[in-house]
Amino acid sequence: MSEALNRYIESGYRKVDGWLSAIAIRSTVALGNLQKRLNISGAVSEIGVHHGRLFILLHLLTEAPEISVAWDLFELQNENADGSGHGDKRRFQTNLIRHGCDLNRIKINTVNSRTLTADKIIAECESKVRIFSVDGAHSAASTFSDLDVAVSSVCEGGLILLDDFSMPIGLASRRAPADTCISTWHHCFRWRS
Ligand SMILES: C[S@@+](CC[C@H](N)C(=O)[O-])C[C@H]1O[C@@H](n2cnc3c(N)ncnc32)[C@H](O)[C@@H]1O
Repeated sequence: MSEALNRYIESGYRKVDGWLSAIAIRSTVALGNLQKRLNISGAVSEIGVHHGRLFILLHLLTEAPEISVAWDLFELQNENADGSGHGDKRRFQTNLIRHGCDLNRIKINTVNSRTLTADKIIAECESKVRIFSVDGAHSAASTFSDLDVAVSSVCEGGLILLDDFSMPIGLASRRAPADTCISTWHHCFRWRS
């Protein structure tokens, strides 16, 4: 584990505004390390980075030449239909530097995720994605759209992290699309095995 990752897990993440609990950090690190042991490599990517709290962790789990790609509305906040967070590119970039990220392997995109396609994501990531966080708009339609492109962008053995899936407030809007995708993944798994 790198020095920068150690520092971030210990205390650094608390200095970045956003949503990420200690248990979520431990689980993400454990799963990221498991991927490494299984020789699963690829980009990391997040829809909805806010100030970078989770994105920094995902990036610090990568090694060169793996790329990290951020997608957020940033200055297009008039399109933030459900007021989910408030991406701030300047604070995001400051936090990346402060927490020891390798800017040469990070790409930052200002975009409404409803316009994304898996082809566009894979091209920007220069590979399929091994960890994909879906944390943009929280409406059912946006969640379904974001999960749909995430499912088509991840590599074999890739992970998709969906924020707020089990929280009471997010449940109503996030449950339905996630159930649909879980059913899709179940079928994919059966198809592959
Ligand atoms: C809940 S915050 C993300 C929190 C972040 N993952 C963290 O680690 O703290 C949601 C983010 O999604 C962005 N967002 C909202 N709607 C979006 C959309 N349609 N497309 C892209 N980003 C969106 C917001 O600007 C905000 O930065």
